[in-house]
Amino acid sequence: MSVHADQKPWTVPALAEAKRAGRRMAMLTAYDAGFARAIDDAGIDLVLVGDSLGMVVQGHGSTLPVTVADVAYHTAAVARGLRRALLLADLPFQSDATPARALDASVMLLQAGAQMVKLEGAGHKLEVIRFLAQRDIPVCAHLGLTPQSVLALGGFKVQGREEAAAARLLADAQAVAEAGASLLVLECVPTPLARKITANVDIPTIGIGAGPHCDGQVLVLHDLLGLDSGHRRPKFVKDFLAEGGSVAGAVRAFAEAVRSGAFPSAEHSYA
Ligand code: KIV
Repeated sequence: MSVHADQKPWTVPALAEAKRAGRRMAMLTAYDAGFARAIDDAGIDLVLVGDSLGMVVQGHGSTLPVTVADVAYHTAAVARGLRRALLLADLPFQSDATPARALDASVMLLQAGAQMVKLEGAGHKLEVIRFLAQRDIPVCAHLGLTPQSVLALGGFKVQGREEAAAARLLADAQAVAEAGASLLVLECVPTPLARKITANVDIPTIGIGAGPHCDGQVLVLHDLLGLDSGHRRPKFVKDFLAEGGSVAGAVRAFAEAVRSGAFPSAEHSYA
């Protein structure tokens, strides 16, 4: 039986309540029903069908080859495994290039079982966020290292290190919240900047390589389980299987470390 069987299923409004209450959220990716059930039972709050599936499931070198149909397929499988966690699904590369395209893709993902869609960037994406939010489609924004921009960025690098870039990132975070996003993933951002953003936006932040001061943390499931994806292992990755001893133990160890603030430590963060 689930360790959280007595707890209510997560909803979108509950995210803001968690931030107000200072209750940190633990989020993991999942791509199939079996792992979805296991991580839901182990007490994970938010589950993401990330376009990271292109790298860890399909074996590509980036997330660019992933299609809406791919994400919808995995979303439907994951949805069948969840009882309590809130399910997010990624809008893959260029499926959110225009508001109309993003609406079509979001409808597919919500009809597959997602409760929120995630999209990368600000700039012209603000119009997309606004368009979706006005149509009652919950949106999670994703700033910092945005892997769909890997070609333009020149690689998977920490973002917001220089003063001007940090100021831009803070302004973008406030703009996505203003446009109607309900949640914000911050990836590969120096700890002080992520802390400042978290303190200066009304919506919860979920960090990955963004230090311990975010309102929650996310990891790719394969990274948490210490699987070698064939790609360089980022500094923020921690193998929780080593200390957890089983899949359920690893997920529980991650969730507890997130809630207590023990993860990420300085060793898994960027100064
Ligand atoms: O695709 C993904 O798994 C993600 C997480 C790393 C946040 O976007």
